Amino acid sequence: MTPLATTPRLASPTTLVRDSYIAGEHADMLHRGADTAWLSDARADFAQFVDDRRGIRERWGVPSEVFWFTADEHYIGSLVLRHRLGADDLGGHIGYHVVRPWQGQGHATAMLGHGLAKAHSIGLDRVLMTVAQDNPASQRVIAHHHGAEDGTNSDGQLRFWIDISLNES
Ligand SMILES: CC(C)(COP(=O)(O)OP(=O)(O)OC[C@H]1O[C@@H](n2cnc3c(N)ncnc32)[C@H](O)[C@@H]1OP(=O)(O)O)[C@@H](O)C(=O)NCCC(=O)NCCS
Repeated sequence: MTPLATTPRLASPTTLVRDSYIAGEHADMLHRGADTAWLSDARADFAQFVDDRRGIRERWGVPSEVFWFTADEHYIGSLVLRHRLGADDLGGHIGYHVVRPWQGQGHATAMLGHGLAKAHSIGLDRVLMTVAQDNPASQRVIAHHHGAEDGTNSDGQLRFWIDISLNES
């Protein structure tokens, strides 16, 4: 575990974490057996790669934002906030991941807390999260934020509603 000199923050993608982003996502993709070809764009022109990910964009048919959880030059993970649910509710409002080198240190729990604050700032009072039944780590993260289970979606994923007011300190 690398000790962090500053508390991680959730903000728009930034060029400050170039090497850490590429290393972290690459390690993560290899662990999942996933394709790493998409990272060649990041290696070739990271400033453009970052620019393509900043701001509110139409993704999955709805306005959405990508945020990165970072501490100084360290990239820890990503969070996507969909401003509203699409025609189906498959992805929910928020999706996230923490890259492997940083897992198991409470970062997803902290990152989701910041994501809920961002959801509140765009007027959402509650968010839907959808999670695979065989993903106990993510279910645990959602439980830390008082997620209330609400059946399954058409993909068989568990649905949880998080009331943001329950998470305000
Ligand atoms: C799920 C994920 C975001 C968790 O990130 P993380 O930074 O390791 O999460 P945290 O450290 O904040 O908390 C993980 C919790 O899960 C628990 N956990 C981890 N593995 C577990 C397992 N196999 N079974 C049960 N609980 C588990 C941890 O003990 C911790 O709970 P605790 O705080 O009560 O001790 C990360 O594993 C990940 O990115 N996975 C791949 C992508 C993904 O699944 N995204 C979520 C899609 S809904």
